[in-house]
Amino acid sequence: MKRDIDEDICDRRFYSARNAIMIKELQICLFDLIMCLSGAMDLVSEAVVNHQKRVSYIALRIASELGLSIEEQNSLILAGAIHDCGIFSLQEKLDVLRFENKILGNHAEIGFQLLKNFIPLKKLSLPIRYHHLPWQEGRGCEFGGESVPLESHILHLADRVDSLVDKSREVLGQIQGIRQKIHQQRGSLFVPRLVEVFEDLACKEYFWLDLSSPYLDSILLRRGPMHTIELDWSGLMDLTNLFCQIIDFRSPFTVTHSSGVAASAEALSKLAGFSERESRMMRIAGFLHDLGKLVVSSEILEKRTKLSIDECNIIRSHSFYTYRILDNIADLDIINAWGSFHHERLDGQGYPFHYQEQDLPLGSRIMAVADVFTAVNEDRPYRSGMMKEEVLSVLWEMTKNFGLDSAVVSLLERYYDDINHIRIKAQEATHQEYRQIVYPSGRIGGR
Ligand SMILES: [Fe+2]
Ligand SMILES: [Fe+2]
Ligand SMILES: [Fe+2]
Repeated sequence: MKRDIDEDICDRRFYSARNAIMIKELQICLFDLIMCLSGAMDLVSEAVVNHQKRVSYIALRIASELGLSIEEQNSLILAGAIHDCGIFSLQEKLDVLRFENKILGNHAEIGFQLLKNFIPLKKLSLPIRYHHLPWQEGRGCEFGGESVPLESHILHLADRVDSLVDKSREVLGQIQGIRQKIHQQRGSLFVPRLVEVFEDLACKEYFWLDLSSPYLDSILLRRGPMHTIELDWSGLMDLTNLFCQIIDFRSPFTVTHSSGVAASAEALSKLAGFSERESRMMRIAGFLHDLGKLVVSSEILEKRTKLSIDECNIIRSHSFYTYRILDNIADLDIINAWGSFHHERLDGQGYPFHYQEQDLPLGSRIMAVADVFTAVNEDRPYRSGMMKEEVLSVLWEMTKNFGLDSAVVSLLERYYDDINHIRIKAQEATHQEYRQIVYPSGRIGGR
């Protein structure tokens, strides 16, 4: 699309809103991002809070006792933190957490498919692919002609140990019962040597107290020199695209939403005079704008009947969580503001901060328009996607009372067909990825 800046669109108000924030070099820490994603994925229910970080911790302790290298320990911390990224529904999360459950679905395979093409995390993909593979007296050292890394079996044991901890009870009183259950599966589910290491660890109270403590993050941070790895632009783009898939693939109705928002917001920002670099930041902000939806179960996202007040409130909390999750990451402030304020409105009637016109940078206003524009074009459980006239009428209606920024809506209207084309292309590409990742065998799924 030709970059064509209109005098009336790129007026001083636009530029002053943009320049009110300082743009500085990005130095994003991979470890921080992964830990934030991990925590966000496990916020969906009290029953699973911090499951993945606890698996990281247990796996780390086992690896350290085994004398694995620091690099291997770091990989295990990261793999543990996102090992269940292929689980999309709360019910599946809860099912998988039952120790007795032998039917564990294909979440490990989906996790592998999600991660295998992202270079910085590629080496985690294989351990995650086989993190539920039983040892079966040694037969579990390979699967389908592929050798299964020891890390998979460490993750498996760590995962099952955590599934046995009753988080509502004091932990030290549970040690004997957990040891017994793990011991019974020595050689069948678990590698005997790993069970021995675990049993030694299990004698030490600190291991269980660490596991149940609020200090898990800081323990993992201190043990994870991986946090020194920084991402460049393309790495950050790829990682946030991966986050976008983990957020959106949980429901057939949201599969391509963030990629559509990201593409529309990027296109609008270019038309509004953002630099190449700023436009890329808008795309990243679009990928991340609904990160907080990870706290909303897919059961609520997919509900076809009227939502209860509680369910509406849970959904409305998502942009708050996007903000709080990203707020933990240094150097992401601008991207956070552009992404997280997408439900704020110029008249102060948005949520959750009730910011007003003077508080909302141009990037946030563009994101708000891109979000509504993309959402009304999509099918929802309760309605079909809208046509152009209807979309524009919804957007203009929202500019009344100063909800959306009329200058941004006007820009969208002027270049509607170009922007819509970019949105459709981006969403088609994401849908294609969805089919490859979730249905790699060629079975047709999704919408
Ligand atoms: Fe799992
Ligand atoms: Fe798990
Ligand atoms: Fe949203």
